[in-house]
Formats: sequence, structure tokens, C-alpha cells
Amino acid sequence: MPFMNQENSREILANEKYPVLFACRQNEEMVISTEALEEETMLFQIPNITAERFGDSGFKKEYGLKYALYGGAMANGIASSDMVIALGKAGFMGSYGAGGMFLEVIAAEIDKIQAALGDKPYMINMLSNRNGEAELKLAQLLIDKKVPAVEASAYIVPSDALIYYRVKGIYEDAEGNIVTPHKVIAKVSREEVLEKFVLPPDAAAVARLVAAGLLTEAEAALASRIPMADDITVEADSGGHTDGRPLVSMLPALIALAERIQAPLGYQKKVRVGAGGGIGTGLSCLAAFQMGAAYVVTGSVNQSCVEAGTSDYVKKVLAETAMADVMMAPCADMFESGARVEVIKKGTMYPQNAQKLYEYYTKYPSFEAIPQADRDRVEKRILRDTFANVWNATKDYFAKVDPAKIAKAEADPKLKMALVFRWYLGCSSRWAVKGEQARQLDMQIWCGQSMGAFNLWVKGTPLEKMENRKVAVVAETLLQSCAYEYMKNMIQMFDFTNLKN
Ligand SMILES: Cc1cc2nc3c(=O)[nH]c(=O)nc-3n(C[C@H](O)[C@H](O)[C@H](O)COP(=O)(O)O)c2cc1C
Repeated sequence: MPFMNQENSREILANEKYPVLFACRQNEEMVISTEALEEETMLFQIPNITAERFGDSGFKKEYGLKYALYGGAMANGIASSDMVIALGKAGFMGSYGAGGMFLEVIAAEIDKIQAALGDKPYMINMLSNRNGEAELKLAQLLIDKKVPAVEASAYIVPSDALIYYRVKGIYEDAEGNIVTPHKVIAKVSREEVLEKFVLPPDAAAVARLVAAGLLTEAEAALASRIPMADDITVEADSGGHTDGRPLVSMLPALIALAERIQAPLGYQKKVRVGAGGGIGTGLSCLAAFQMGAAYVVTGSVNQSCVEAGTSDYVKKVLAETAMADVMMAPCADMFESGARVEVIKKGTMYPQNAQKLYEYYTKYPSFEAIPQADRDRVEKRILRDTFANVWNATKDYFAKVDPAKIAKAEADPKLKMALVFRWYLGCSSRWAVKGEQARQLDMQIWCGQSMGAFNLWVKGTPLEKMENRKVAVVAETLLQSCAYEYMKNMIQMFDFTNLKN
């Protein structure tokens, strides 16, 4: 299949690696081919630009990567240890989805990842947690297990626990280089949050950590000379929590802002900026790199891969998802504040149900104050159980994670209503992960438009089938396509009318 056009290029990419492109003349037209035609028709050959060439070389060197791409965390172990291992072995990096997992499970998964990967790269996700004590325990676990890097997300300001992880163990070597054994890649979608991660760790928090005996004076003294994060992922409209902003507007602006903030600070190393959100095709990767991204991050597309820690049912739904099949809906973790996540709307009533519950929550002071007909609807169609029974199940959960919450909610009927409604929102994610057939209409599946873009792109290729979607193959295909599109763009930038004569 020598000639390249939009239609067959996907097929060639799925079967051949790294095509060398030839520009040839045929009937006075220029064609791009993967094979040289006869000598006299040959115009020129494009050098073989490979997938490894893209992105910041310092980024790849620092984390030990072949490619400037990492798979973002997906909570509840959807970004599973198997996914992290597969990406790490193939020269990429994966961020384990530690959000929503118990500490013992995270500990066991870290052991599994370390045993499989040795010194190959991986990250564990640290999510902002209103329960500071739980977050500190996670930081301690990551330090004890010598986890080399975290992906820090959902922070408005870096917490004490995150600062503890970042600063613990830093020292100055004989050449005067500050060595940071704990790397942080912060995921942000706002200017003011980016600023907090480009600046050094907050001095007052560092002092608190010294007073608590967690950091030494020597570590604290060096903290003011390093940025809070080594790298910052600018996250545009994406699956899950999102500010829904477009990458093309946000990325160049935030890259420039990061440069401006760090210029006067005299760091030994530059804080790099990468891009995530909406990346589902080779051309999306190329667009991000051309806008200056040091690396790219994928999320939604990985959830449809064989290694994802979710049900086959969800993977099938995802493999059939179109770009218009997603919408914003209330989420469990910040339900009361009205926070929303991007989810699948096709084949599930989750977005409508969650919205209804949020409306009842904002309108009424207690469950009992909701009109009887609406209460019946909530119990029969949404909870599928009585409010009282669900409250009992909720209490069992809080007895394990935050017992003080139970007494608080018993005294505050609005909080009690929020916790019961959050039970539904929390379970809806677990039903999806488990593939609970009886609860298909309640499944909460986080997904961005990148999924639909990917599905459209791979249609007619082996990657259309969900069983062929190995996470490393998907990542490689994205970057090989990125390289191919780059070469094609280079060819198209020449003035061929001159070359023909
Ligand atoms: C199912 C799902 C769960 C996610 N969970 C997390 C999470 O726990 N922590 C996090 O930092 N990002 C999370 N994300 C965001 C991804 O890491 C990634 O940044 C994002 O998906 C990239 O955008 P895309 O979905 O358009 O590819 C999640 C995304 C999805 C689709």
C-alpha cells in the first residue's frame, strides 16, 4: 500500500512501524508514498522522524523514559498496577489510580509495581484530601516505600502532606546540585494553581513540618531553592474532574506563565509543562507538542484498554462511545459544593439521577422535607432501597474511615441527606468497575471527548476491537501517528511547484 492518504494512513500505521515517506511525482501531481517509485519521479525523501524524538529530552532523561507520554491516574485502581507495569515496560510511564483505595491495597500494589518494574518508571497518584491525616499517612507510605514520583492532582494549594513528600530526603551533593529523591508532577487547569507549583514549597508549611519532627532543618533550608513540582501537566477538558477548558487556549498561555514565574527564581532546573485532556489521536499529540508541551498525558483512551481495572462491560461501552456521548454530572467527592465530572451519558441514567439528587439536596433541609412522591421516586428508582437502610450502610462505611462523621450527620439532617445521596454516587462508580448487570442504568463512567475521537480514528483498524487495545500499543500508535503526521506536514510545507520543474 504505497500511497498515503487520510483513509489508508491509519491502516498503514496499525500494521507498519515508522514509515519513511517519499514525495513522488505522478501525472504532474505530488503524492506521498511509503515506497520510492522510479528514480525519475522521486522528488525527495523525508528523514525518518521517530516517536521517541517528541517532547522534552530532560523530561525523558529525568524519569528514564523512551517516550514523552504518560498515562494519567484513574481513581479506584482503574489505572491499575497492570496498566502501570505495561506502560513502564514499554518506555512510557503510568500513574497508579490510588484515589478511593485503602492504604493497605495501595501498599500491596506498590510492591507489585516495584517487583515488576525494578528501576523502570512509574508514579502513584496523590489526590488532595480534606482528611489531612489520611493524606499524611499516604505521604508516609510513599516515602517509606521509596516511590520516586507522584502525580499530584486536585490541589488548590499544595498540602502539608504533599510538601512533606516533596521535601523529605533532599540534599546538596558535592557539586552543589540539589538532589530531590521525590519527583512531583502536578496536574493543574488554572493559572493560580500553576503558580503555587512553580514557586518553592510554602515556607510556613515547611516550618510546621520541621516543628512536627517530619523534616530536618537541613531539608527545610534547601526547600526554598526548589520548585514545588518538577513538572506541571496542564489539563484541558478531560474525563472526570475538569474545568472543561480548551487545550489550544490554555496550554500556550500557561507555558508562558510558568516561564515568567520561574525566570527570577534561579532554579537549578527548569519546571517543564506538559499537556493532557482531549488527547485521543496522533494529531492531538502533535498539536500539543507543537504548542510547546514537554510531554503528553492520556486518560480516557486508557480506560478502554485490556489492562484497565474496570469491567469488560464498561470497556465495551467506551469502545463504542462517540464524542457527543459525554456530559457533565454531579460527583460524589465534592457533591455538596456542586462539583461536576465528565461522564458517559449513553446507556446510563446516572447523569440525570445524580442531578436530581443534587437538586433535592440544595432545595430541602432534610430528606423528610422532600415531597412524598419525590421521596418515593428516590427510594424506588434511584437508591432502590429505603433511605433508612442506605443510611445504615453509609454508617458502616464511615465507621471505618471517619467515625466522627456519623454523630455529626445524626445531628444535621441535611448532612445526613448528603451522605446518603453520596452513597449512591459512590456506588455508581463501583457498579461500573464491577460490571454489575442489575445496575447498568446507574453506572457512573468518567470519560472525555478524547475517547470518541480515538474510536473514530481507529475505526477499521485492529484497534477498533477492545480486545486489541493494549495500553502500550495504544500509546505507541498515538506517538507513531504523531511522527507520521509531522513528516506529512513537513512535506506539505514545501513549495512543490518549484520542485516539479
Ligand atoms: C475514569 C477516569 C478516572 C480518573 N481519575 C483520576 C484520578 O484519580 N486522579 C487524577 O489525577 N486524574 C484522574 N483522571 C484524569 C486522567 O488522569 C487524565 O488526566 C485525563 O483523563 C486526561 O484527559 P482525557 O480523559 O481527555 O484523556 C481520570 C480520568 C478518567 C477517564
